[in-house]
Amino acid sequence: MLVVDDDPSIARLLEIILKREGYECACAQSVGDAMRSLREGAFDVMVSDVRLPDGSGLDLVEAAVAEDSRMAALVISGLDDVALADRALRVGAYGYIVKPFSANEVLVGVMGALSHRRRELDARDELREASAETIRRLSAAVEARDTNTAAHIIGMSDFCFAIANELGLPPERCELLRAASPMHDVGKVGVPDHVLLKPGTLTAGERELMEQHAEIGYRILTGSRSELLHLAATIAWTHHERLDGSGYPRGLKGSEIPQEGRIAAVADVFDALTRDRVYRPRFSRGDALQIVTDARESAFDPDTVDALVASVERDGAIASSPRRQPGP
Ligand SMILES: [Fe+2]
Repeated sequence: MLVVDDDPSIARLLEIILKREGYECACAQSVGDAMRSLREGAFDVMVSDVRLPDGSGLDLVEAAVAEDSRMAALVISGLDDVALADRALRVGAYGYIVKPFSANEVLVGVMGALSHRRRELDARDELREASAETIRRLSAAVEARDTNTAAHIIGMSDFCFAIANELGLPPERCELLRAASPMHDVGKVGVPDHVLLKPGTLTAGERELMEQHAEIGYRILTGSRSELLHLAATIAWTHHERLDGSGYPRGLKGSEIPQEGRIAAVADVFDALTRDRVYRPRFSRGDALQIVTDARESAFDPDTVDALVASVERDGAIASSPRRQPGP
């Protein structure tokens, strides 16, 4: 719990009430003080006075909830004012307690805020699970007419996660990348069958049609307010870009390629190399790693390749086999 009140006697009283019930408490005396505490630690509930020396407790609640939506806030005020209470709820507070308060009023308020927050988090998890499942099913629909296998799609997204993790991206970003990357080839639904399913080498014209899958995927996924779909659109659009500008569809170079695109490119190629294709048997992990490493700096981002190498070497024994030349 974070108690925010500039009146030491009230802050102390709240602290005693909460600690007696077993809650851990920290205190802050101003908006600035509270924001610092919120940045330093995670709090389940913040109980804040409305009038603080350096600003409004309502603004504090608004900013704090925007920064950490997992936290519930309660507002305490000396004013028994419905309009003020209404404003407090509208900026994101769960309750409004009027001074002077009893211990029970505070505890009931805190328990209400905690259970409300738990229900909201459960609902959010369910929604997240539903969208992840939608993506898996959408990817399965694409697979049905794609040359990629389900195993490749799962493997590729696992490597995206492992690389992002190795690069030190925040855990939530790594998870988002794992959930978004299975849609990288969704644009293949727009590639004609005679090109997509052609067993032999593609003509220049056919290759051009095939390469359109990146742009088509982007058009299918773009424009959403969902962060997941937004990331999926970026990956679909940029997973065939290459560091030296030799990729498609836009021939982006170096840092023009978003980091997620650079990660997806390495994960996609590496995983594909370790799977059988009609025109070549699979490479061992060690050989596939060597092929990707050979293109470090020309096609692939060096840091991304290093992260893949570190993660593969740590997590799995690399089967060694005689070196083969990459197939077509
Ligand atoms: Fe692709």
